[in-house]
Parts: sequence; structure tokens; C-alpha cells
Amino acid sequence: MANKSHHNNGLRALVKQKRDGIEHSTAVHVKKFDKTFHALYIQDAVKFLKTLPDSSVQLVLIDPPYNLDLDYWDNYPNYLDWAKQWIDEIYRVLSENGNCVIFGGFQFQDLKQGDLLEILHYTRHNTKLRLINLIIWYYKNGMSAHRYFANRHEEAIWLSKTNKYYFDLDSVRVPYDEESKKAALKDKRLIPENIEKGKNPTNVWEIGRLNGNSVERVGHPTQKPTEIIRRFVKALSYEGALVLDFFAGSGTTGRVCIEENRHSIMVDADESLMGYLKKHIEKADISKSKPYEIIENPSIDDFLNMVRMSVNE
Ligand SMILES: C[S@@+](CC[C@H](N)C(=O)[O-])C[C@H]1O[C@@H](n2cnc3c(N)ncnc32)[C@H](O)[C@@H]1O
Repeated sequence: MANKSHHNNGLRALVKQKRDGIEHSTAVHVKKFDKTFHALYIQDAVKFLKTLPDSSVQLVLIDPPYNLDLDYWDNYPNYLDWAKQWIDEIYRVLSENGNCVIFGGFQFQDLKQGDLLEILHYTRHNTKLRLINLIIWYYKNGMSAHRYFANRHEEAIWLSKTNKYYFDLDSVRVPYDEESKKAALKDKRLIPENIEKGKNPTNVWEIGRLNGNSVERVGHPTQKPTEIIRRFVKALSYEGALVLDFFAGSGTTGRVCIEENRHSIMVDADESLMGYLKKHIEKADISKSKPYEIIENPSIDDFLNMVRMSVNE
């Protein structure tokens, strides 16, 4: 079968539309706002989700337990039965242009344990969520192996509520090096303006895992690198949007949201969240960030009101 990525009429239409200066139907006009708000809840994810109103969140970004028994919270005997309870709420809480990212991996040892494949299968067959991309997170640092090829990737699925999902590719383009830029500028199929902006990062992302002594570490055993979270936050949400992470762990998502001027809700069943988040904030670069406020356990209506009221036009 032909590789359709070389004959993409939709892409051609988009390029023409851009050249003609016509705005895409999913364009968002970001409203002015003074500060960002970040709510923190120590609670079970499913219980929390039930309290959230419909269409209230623009990006759900979650890194759930992979069920690998890495910690006391990483062992759900009926993983998919449990996961279904939070998956079923995601479509409802997302806004019309909303996105959802779920990190995960594949189970190699015991299929009964469940994994991201099962989650993906369930979302495709039992929810209205649409699969936009499977992202391969490739890293060079990992465990060695002798009875199989050493694993060097994890995955994340990007789902959307509708086909009007928000996506800002320009915010995450990767700069060309000088040599490939010269070659690209000679390629008549490529748009010079986009070459200046940088490359599409593709759906294979090479980002190192955090080593034990990484400066980013705040003490959580399965902390994600800010670089990978930042790419999702920047591309799939806009400034002033509300981002929800209901397996917040150390609060990496919240830290990135503070840095990138998004509001956030962080939920974790483990009460160490606030302590980890404080350490994250000590390391955060807030030089370009708006003032921010962290609120522990607010009533959800009050919090959503604060987010709404932060708009000043
Ligand atoms: C893989 S870690 C997330 C790590 C996070 N991405 C970070 O960068 O720090 C998963 C988190 O889910 C939390 N968790 C597990 N079961 C939960 C539940 N039922 N409700 C809420 N949180 C839960 C665990 O306490 C753990 O911190």
C-alpha cells in the first residue's frame, strides 16, 4: 500500500489555506489573564473525576501506574477494570477542542496485568475519544538485558474529544542544524517559512530518562522529564487553558504549567505530592511566567470560578 504521508491532500489544503492567510477553524484567540491557578487534591482519581463538571478541562495529561509493581501504588489486580473507571470520565470532562495524553508501556511478562495496549483498545472500541498519534518515547539510557533486546522506549497515546482538537505545532518545532537547513531550503516541496520555524518533531521523541542523580529529580520514583511533559503541554494546550493530571506523582505537569502559563489541577492519592511539588518549584524557571497561586483542596466550583475570573478582557 502506498505511503499516504507522501500524497496527503489534507496537508496540501492546509498549506494553501495558510499561504492564503486563512485561519484554521481550530485557531484559538488566547484571552488576556493576570495569573495562573493550580489546585492540588490528595484524593483517589476516580472519586475526583466524578466531581468535575462536563467540558471543564482542555488537556488531560496523565502518567498512570503501568502495573509493573514498581511501588505500592503500582499493582492493580484487575487493571483494565480499574482503568475503565477513569477512562470513561475523560471524554465527558474534556472541552470541545480538548486533548488527552496517556503515558504507558507494554506488558512483556504477564498479559493479564494489563497495559497501554489494553487501554488503547478499550478507548477505541468503547469511548468516543479519537486516536491522533501514538508517540514513541525513545531513550538511550536504560537497563541491560541478556535474554531479550534491552528496552529503550515507552509510549504515550494522544487522544482528542473531536476533530476540532487544538494543536500548535509551531510551538514545538525542532530547529534544523545548519547543514540540513541548507538542504531543506533547496527542496521545492518544503515551505521556506516552515524551515525557518524548524522541523516537525515527528512521533518518535528522543528524550533521556531521568537518571538517579539528575538535577531534575525531586524524589518521586517514576518522575517524568519536564522536556517530554513540556512538549505535550505546549503543543496540545494554549496559555490560560486548564490542564488536569489525576496521577500527578511529583507534580511535574503542574510545574510545567506554572512555567508555561497554563492553569492546572493535580490529583494524587499519595500525600507526598505537595512536598515534591515544592522541590519542583525551587528548580523551575519562572522568569517568563505570570504570577501563580497554588491552592490545596479548594471546592472545585470555586477553583473553576477563579480560573474563569482570571481573564481580564
Ligand atoms: C507514574 S506515577 C506519576 C509520576 C508523574 N508523572 C511525575 O512526573 O512525577 C503515578 C502516580 O499515580 C498515583 N496513583 C496511583 N493510583 C492512584 C489513584 N487511584 N488515584 C490517584 N492517584 C493514584 C501514585 O501515587 C503515583 O504518584
